[in-house]
Amino acid sequence: TPSGALAGRTVLVTAGGTREAIDPVRYLGNRSSGKMGFAIAAAAADRGADVTFVTTMQPPADLAQRVRVVSVESALQMRDAVLAATPDVLVMAAAVADFRPDHVADAKIKKIHGDDSAPVITLVRNPDILAEAVRQRDAELQPTAPSTNVSSRVIVGFAAETGDADGDVLHHARAKLARKGCDVLVANEVGDGVTFGQDSSTAHLLRRGSDDVVTVGPAPKSHIAAALLDLVADLVPSQ
Ligand code: C5P
Repeated sequence: TPSGALAGRTVLVTAGGTREAIDPVRYLGNRSSGKMGFAIAAAAADRGADVTFVTTMQPPADLAQRVRVVSVESALQMRDAVLAATPDVLVMAAAVADFRPDHVADAKIKKIHGDDSAPVITLVRNPDILAEAVRQRDAELQPTAPSTNVSSRVIVGFAAETGDADGDVLHHARAKLARKGCDVLVANEVGDGVTFGQDSSTAHLLRRGSDDVVTVGPAPKSHIAAALLDLVADLVPSQ
């Protein structure tokens, strides 16, 4: 039986790109493969955590046997699943769509014969699930007396940054870490087929309140997951 800091802890991992319905057959999506989330969920299960996996993608069968799978499609569904839970560790690896169509057509949108016009799809902003999860945690923990034994949830966000120089990526990542209020941010460099859908990538792990950066890679996503969980294990209060 695994013994480290994550053994017996509840860990919620989100993965995959959300799909924002246009009509019953169409959606707006993105190129996220969910592989980083799969790797983190598997690594957490290896360490004995009780893992809930909120995903838009079908997880590999061996992973599905070891974690509780909650299948979702849209950002709003993912938000409900995430905010309903109070895990010890939340890892927002999903690529959540920033926008969704303002309404979902009841029937398939059809082209009209003899009419060359095209529909206009108006987008509205999706909620920022990560930022809401941080606010929810902070609201829960505030009224508690210091003497009570609350476990402060560790919240991890991701950033897919395009940038040429490392400095650029790290600069944006620092700003995002501060803005979102999460404890750890995993910054990936993306663009031109880098990272999305690949088995390997380079990640920079940043911690709130620390100038240290752990850079992993280019390495398999399983290595990045292991480095991330090592860092998270240090932040989880001892039981
Ligand atoms: O702001 P940006 O989309 O770059 O932030 C990425 C991080 O925020 C990821 O952890 C992602 O899962 C999360 N996110 C979210 N809800 C959104 C957009 C992003 O939770 N609507």
